[in-house]
Parts: sequence; C-alpha cells; structure tokens
Amino acid sequence: MDDPKIVDISGIGETTAAKLKAAGFTNIEALAVTPLRELIEKSGIGEKTADKITNAARELLGLDFITAMELYERRKKAQRLTTGSKNFDDLLAGGIETQTMVELIGEFGSGKSQLCMQFCATTQLPLEKGGLGGKVLFLDTEGTFYPRRVHDMAKSFGLDPDEVLNNIIYARCYNSDHQMLLVNRAFRLVREENIKLIIVDSLISHFRGEYVGRENLSYRQQKLNNHIHKLLRLAEGYNCAVVITNQIQSNPAAFFGDPNRPAGGNVLAHASTHRIYLRKSKAGTRVAKIIDSPCLPEESTTFVITSNGIEDPDSDRTMNTEAVSTEVTEQVELLEKT
Ligand code: GTP
Ligand code: MG
Repeated sequence: MDDPKIVDISGIGETTAAKLKAAGFTNIEALAVTPLRELIEKSGIGEKTADKITNAARELLGLDFITAMELYERRKKAQRLTTGSKNFDDLLAGGIETQTMVELIGEFGSGKSQLCMQFCATTQLPLEKGGLGGKVLFLDTEGTFYPRRVHDMAKSFGLDPDEVLNNIIYARCYNSDHQMLLVNRAFRLVREENIKLIIVDSLISHFRGEYVGRENLSYRQQKLNNHIHKLLRLAEGYNCAVVITNQIQSNPAAFFGDPNRPAGGNVLAHASTHRIYLRKSKAGTRVAKIIDSPCLPEESTTFVITSNGIEDPDSDRTMNTEAVSTEVTEQVELLEKT
C-alpha cells in the first residue's frame, strides 16, 4: 500500500487520533513498532484500543508474516556501501550491507566519529563507485560532527562537497528522549528523502549518563531496546544501512580476560548485526576487528586517519590539487553558512 496514514486505520476516531498526535505518534510506522505499554502510557488511550491500533498498523504495513521466498527477495535487494578503505571493505566482505546495523565500538580517539563522517561522503558516491547514491541521516549526541571535515573527505572522493553537505540531514540530540523522538520522526524522513544511511554517534552516551545506578538499569535497557529495534526496523523496512557507535566501559570487577567491554549490555550485543572493535595501534595506525557477526569471520585489519579521512596504510587516495587550492576560500564560505 502506498504511504498509509493514521486515519487509514479503521475505527480510529477523532479523539483517539488527537490523543495519538499529542503524544507524538504522527505516523503509522511509529504506531506499528511502539510497544503496547508505551503507547498506552504516552497517549492515555485504553488497552483494547491500543491493541487494535497496533495490530491494524502492522497489518497495513505488512509487518507480520511473510514467506521465506518474500524474505529471500527482500534480502536480495540489500546493497553494499563502500567504507572508502579497501581493508575495511574486505573486513566487511564488500562493505556495509543495507538492512543491517553495524556497531563501531572503541575508546576515545579510536576513529568512530571519523568513520561515521567518511560514510556520510561514501553513501553519496554513485552505485558504480561503491556508494548508495543516497542521502544520510545523522543523529549526533555528542556534538562531534564537523561539516568541515566531511567537506574535505567528500573532496578527496571527487564529490561536490557542498552537495554532499546538502544531502546530510543532521540533528543534534540533547537527551535520550529527544534521541528516541528523532528516530520516530525518521520514519517519515526516510520514506520521503531517499535516505540510505542512518548514523547515531554515539547511541549510548545519553542513556548511560541519565540512568545511573543498578536500580535504573532495567528501565534503561528497556528504553534502549525499544530505540534500537526502531533503528533495525528502519534498516529492514527501507533498505538502508544503520551505523551506530558505542563506547568501551571498564569493569573493575573483572579478574580474568579483558576488563574493557562494550557498553549497552546484552540488549545492544544481540541487536547489532556486526560489531566492530576499534583500537589505536603502533605508529598512528588503528586496528578494526570483527568481534561478533552472524556471517563474518573474527578477522582484523588496519587503517589510518589522514587529512583525507579514513584510508588504508598504503592508500593512494589523493586530494584533487585544484580543489586544494580553493579549499581555504570554500571553508570560510562554509563556516559562514553553518
Ligand atoms: P570519542 O568520540 O571521543 O569516543 O572518539 P572517536 O572514536 O569518535 O574518535 P574520532 O573518530 O573523533 O577520532 C579522533 C582522532 O582522529 C584524533 O585523535 C585524530 O588523531 C584523528 N583526526 C581527526 N581529524 C583529523 C585530521 O583532520 N587529520 C588527521 N590526520 N587526523 C585526524
Ligand atoms: Mg566520537
């Protein structure tokens, strides 16, 4: 069905529609993926009505049963996004696959945000160059997205940097509720804007900062679970890739093995399709290692961070010299715009 709306759900009266709207449920996808209890709590509608609405929304979107053949057909549509580094693409068996969620895990300065910014550029490369020819949705929870850096990276891929920046839809998230609300809104954007990559950098920081202590852990994990599954739904439903970043948390109680582990616990561990651990290594190189994936071996590779972005240690990706000479003027113009 083409673009179903809330009013298409039979039995929704004006009062219920108004309550749903006031609670922020403005599109059918959000209704289909929101847990029943949350829908009731937020909108104040009764359990029976909520149940009816959720089921009807799922049915309208065709979210329930499909045949294995339909699943096979859907998976066949998956595309690969180049990371801009041959080493990294090889590690991922050809790049980042749409319909999946890739989690970049690492300590500060390991290159998570740099990789995210580079993907903003590579997503916009045409299909024949390994890109997805689409736009990017960037949710920034830490304020570390630098348009100027993406501008330089875009140039090193021979793309028009201004166009690249125009095709990145950016939002700064101020707390976990805001972050979750923005993902709800993303359903409409993804449908309308040919978005092929959704980035959340970092996924976990607000959740960790706001829900401190054991007594808040289960509530935090519930919220996180809900948030992540909406991201997965976006990836699968709209054939786009999702990249999230995560921090390392140290466990002082660990006597054996590595005391550092990814934050987010089991909720995140089970939801991410591929988990990649990044760390700083010798002479400015960085190591990326697959630590959990249903189809990739636990291999590792190296990359470097240069003025061009993320590159292989022996890369020959060079800046366009003409572009470099006009770089300063363009950067000043860009800063005035942002
Ligand atoms: P946190 O967000 O703090 O957890 O870290 P992160 O993993 O996101 O780190 P990020 O991706 O921001 O990497 C930061 C590192 O990238 C810095 O330590 C620099 O070494 C490197 N870097 C950033 N910009 C440039 C640049 O323009 N040129 C070069 N050569 N390196 C850069
Ligand atoms: Mg970062």
